[in-house]
Amino acid sequence: MIANSAPAGTTALSDSELVARLTPDTLPRHVAIIMDGNGRWARARGLPRIAGHSEGIKSLQEVIALFLELGIPALTIYAFSQENWNRPATEITALMGLLEHYLSTEQGRLVERGIRLRTIGRVEMLPPGALARLRASEAESRHCDKLVLTVGLSYGGRSEIVDAVRKIAADCKTGRLQADEIDEGLFEQYLSTTGLPDPDLLIRTSGESRISNFLLWQLAYTELYFTPTLWPDFRRREALLALIEFQQRDRRFGRIKPSMTPSPGR
Ligand code: IPE
Ligand code: IPE
Ligand code: MG
Repeated sequence: MIANSAPAGTTALSDSELVARLTPDTLPRHVAIIMDGNGRWARARGLPRIAGHSEGIKSLQEVIALFLELGIPALTIYAFSQENWNRPATEITALMGLLEHYLSTEQGRLVERGIRLRTIGRVEMLPPGALARLRASEAESRHCDKLVLTVGLSYGGRSEIVDAVRKIAADCKTGRLQADEIDEGLFEQYLSTTGLPDPDLLIRTSGESRISNFLLWQLAYTELYFTPTLWPDFRRREALLALIEFQQRDRRFGRIKPSMTPSPGR
């Protein structure tokens, strides 16, 4: 379902009133975002696609600032999928340049604010300059503990699962692992997101209602929030509305609500 309209009763509220609406105890511990719609944002303005990607960085900065303010400790973003390698070389080069530029100019501020950078995906496929900058940022922010920012780069959910299976098979072969020790908890330790809780909330912008090969294992019980807003327009207010909507969801995890349980004797 696309959340076309703001959650009930929020339209007239200011941003600070929206913040006051949030219940601190039930904020998500981990939010994942498919940042989509940069190209369409640019096209609507007669600009090159890269202008949309560049503008999208401002949205990311606003979302990060909000999460730090609210104390949401984990954000995972889909920045470049494995399938995105099929885009024109000019767009790929521009995107990689943007990534490198963002990291070199923002790195100091990321660390200052306690943001730890992690990557998921086959990052070794990235151009050497971008890869070196990423590795340096990961190393420099290792000690940071306010927000874990995980960036999906050359990421695909199916490859992640296949890679985990390969490592498990290798460990079984060497005798480090027995087949009957494999369960969901162990499997998770072989995924690139190990150590992070599963996302409580997934946001996808731009009106598409699909997962596009993102976090296939981890999203099993995540609340999905699809909005028509294009990523460069997804700013602080849009993020607050997504969080409010999340807090209105009834997460049952397959159970039924206690109020729906028949009373004894019935
Ligand atoms: C998302 O925006 C960013 C990346 C996939 C890198 P798009 O580039 O997919 O923008 P649209 O979907 O074409 O509008
Ligand atoms: C998903 O967006 C990947 C990222 C946001 C990085 P796409 O624009 O690549 O996805 P599809 O092609 O619409 O499914
Ligand atoms: Mg897209």
